[in-house]
Amino acid sequence: MSAPDNDIIQAAQHLGSAKNIAVLTGAGISAESGIPTFRDALTGWWSKYSLTDLATPQAFARDPERVTRWYDERRCIIAQCRPNPGHVALATLQRAIVEQGKRFTLITQNVDRLHQAAGSTDVIELHGTLWVWRCVDCDKEAEERGPAFQSFPPHCTCGGLRRPDIVWFGEDLPADAMDAAERAVASCDFFMSVGTSAEVYPAAGLIAQAVHAGADVLEINPTATSFSSQATWSVRGKSGEVLPLIVQAALGVGARNGRACPRYM
Ligand code: OAD
Repeated sequence: MSAPDNDIIQAAQHLGSAKNIAVLTGAGISAESGIPTFRDALTGWWSKYSLTDLATPQAFARDPERVTRWYDERRCIIAQCRPNPGHVALATLQRAIVEQGKRFTLITQNVDRLHQAAGSTDVIELHGTLWVWRCVDCDKEAEERGPAFQSFPPHCTCGGLRRPDIVWFGEDLPADAMDAAERAVASCDFFMSVGTSAEVYPAAGLIAQAVHAGADVLEINPTATSFSSQATWSVRGKSGEVLPLIVQAALGVGARNGRACPRYM
């Protein structure tokens, strides 16, 4: 990016004075960490693989070896990836906002836990996490941070099949996570949608809920989405470049004459 544009400056000013901030992130925020998105043409997972072969309970029932092998390969790819400046900017923002006694809620569709690795806390995970695997028979869960599984599909000590603790298409989102997300969005005065195509519901519905609640809505995405026209500001750019600018400006770093002055981090 070159110089920050007016939308970035305006959005940063509103963010700086907001009292209750909610952020929804999607695969795009981790793209600059080297993790492919789902729907980007050419590079997205679903441009190479069929969603119905890999991301549904029916696919797992049909071919648990193929499904678990694919998710374990993704787990191993993610293990090599580190948070990028977009993740770090959101963690910095959360710390500052909470210190100021204001509210901040980070809601993610991502299963990679890079937000937590960057220092974000109390992250609402709408689609679960790839780091936890659970038995479909006894429900025993375990965090898996080690190397790839040795055999597929992995089995529990009880003999049951193990699956990643993520939400597949056709499955319900964790009710407590969705409730917490909806409560945060209903009461927020500033909402950010970062790096999501906004095509997968119910998560995408949170953006419309924020608009309905009357919040300022900032979208950050290199390409337009179906919600861009409803956003107060729709900034075209990579989150790893745009978020540091906005956060630094909102927190008043380089503030002059009471006006936020955006600078590069
Ligand atoms: P998508 O792959 O649908 O969308 C990724 C979005 O990120 C696109 O709109 C891109 O334009 C944008 N993007 C790409 N690079 C970016 C960057 N550097 N900075 C900011 N944005 C960038 O991913 P999601 O919207 O997260 O569900 O997909 C939602 C759900 O569909 C996922 O959680 C997953 C998937 O199938 C499950 O696995 C249950």
